[in-house]
Amino acid sequence: MKASLPTCPSSSRNGGTTPRLRVLSGIQPSGQLHLGNYFGSIKPNLDFQGKADQSFFFIADLHALTTLQSGDLLLQARRDIVLDYLACGFDPEKSIIYYQSDVPEHTELMWILSTVTPMGLLERAVSYKEKVSKGIAATAGLFTYPVLMAADILLYQANLVPVGRDQKQHLEITRDIAVKFNNTFGEAFVIPEPLIREDVAVVPGTDGQKMSKSYGNTIPLFGSEASIKKAIMGIVTDSKGADESKNPEESVIFALHRLFLDAHEQKSLMDEYRSGISYGEAKKRLLACYMDAFAPMRTKREEYAKKTALVDEILAEGARRAKVTAEKTMEKVRELVGL
Ligand code: ADP
Ligand code: TRP
Repeated sequence: MKASLPTCPSSSRNGGTTPRLRVLSGIQPSGQLHLGNYFGSIKPNLDFQGKADQSFFFIADLHALTTLQSGDLLLQARRDIVLDYLACGFDPEKSIIYYQSDVPEHTELMWILSTVTPMGLLERAVSYKEKVSKGIAATAGLFTYPVLMAADILLYQANLVPVGRDQKQHLEITRDIAVKFNNTFGEAFVIPEPLIREDVAVVPGTDGQKMSKSYGNTIPLFGSEASIKKAIMGIVTDSKGADESKNPEESVIFALHRLFLDAHEQKSLMDEYRSGISYGEAKKRLLACYMDAFAPMRTKREEYAKKTALVDEILAEGARRAKVTAEKTMEKVRELVGL
């Protein structure tokens, strides 16, 4: 983690000398949440909950439309991901949780930002090329995805955006767009910093590549126990025999297991690998650890799933609070551009 945190304009507290820390992030509701999402995005965001001056965590449903084009499926996915967030520990008292589409200022700002965004900046976006190469339709929405993401962040004057490494370029594009706008029209935006924790920047999937919904190599957070077991038992290994010494640094099982352990526990597990734990046993231990770690969240999720009215209220209140900041930024932006 970065040693020093970036600041944005001083708050009025403390005579205006306290740096404000505004943390923001979002995830698309485009499939089941997995371990990579948890360690790469959710947990780093949760770590700031209650510590930042303000934390925004939203459901990027407008972004999801670039890949998920079925009304029924999106409706369900949006709902599922809210339950996931709440189960993981986002607390509506401490974080502002909302649907991106409930705050129309996102799309208004996106349009204005698109008028200062150089085409070349978007043409260099790796994520667009990757998605198209995987067969996702090359629409204008997919191409301008990073501009909407810039709007998501700049609207709230967020200065810290905890994400996995795959989002680094999107953050660079956001910063470039913010600088371009500020230089063209006058200071409107704080320049945000990504927060990419090196220890969890790329969580491997069951096949050893980056864990991703698009690669079919995920371990779901809230799937059935059977589906989690199937995924863990299917993790790739080399052909070393049961008693042979193994290198933990080269094992996907270890790379996943260590995410749940402190330094001391990691070291003793490494010793077990070197003294020849079998891969079967290592997987069983990972499964037990996984189920243990997420058990309280699974229970919490079931409880929230029964409280539909409460969840709706949380989202409505989140959107209301998000709008307060979004409207303030848009007033300034409209004034600067002459609208
Ligand atoms: P996916 O690649 O499965 O579609 P998303 O693009 O929806 O995942 O990612 C949502 C958030 O989770 C982003 O902040 C992303 O950086 C993070 N993330 C996704 N996969 C991983 C991974 N394997 N390791 C670390 N972070 C990840
Ligand atoms: N692009 C992000 C992803 O695929 C989701 C996202 C949309 C996001 N807007 C954002 C993340 C703003 C952080 C900040 O994971």
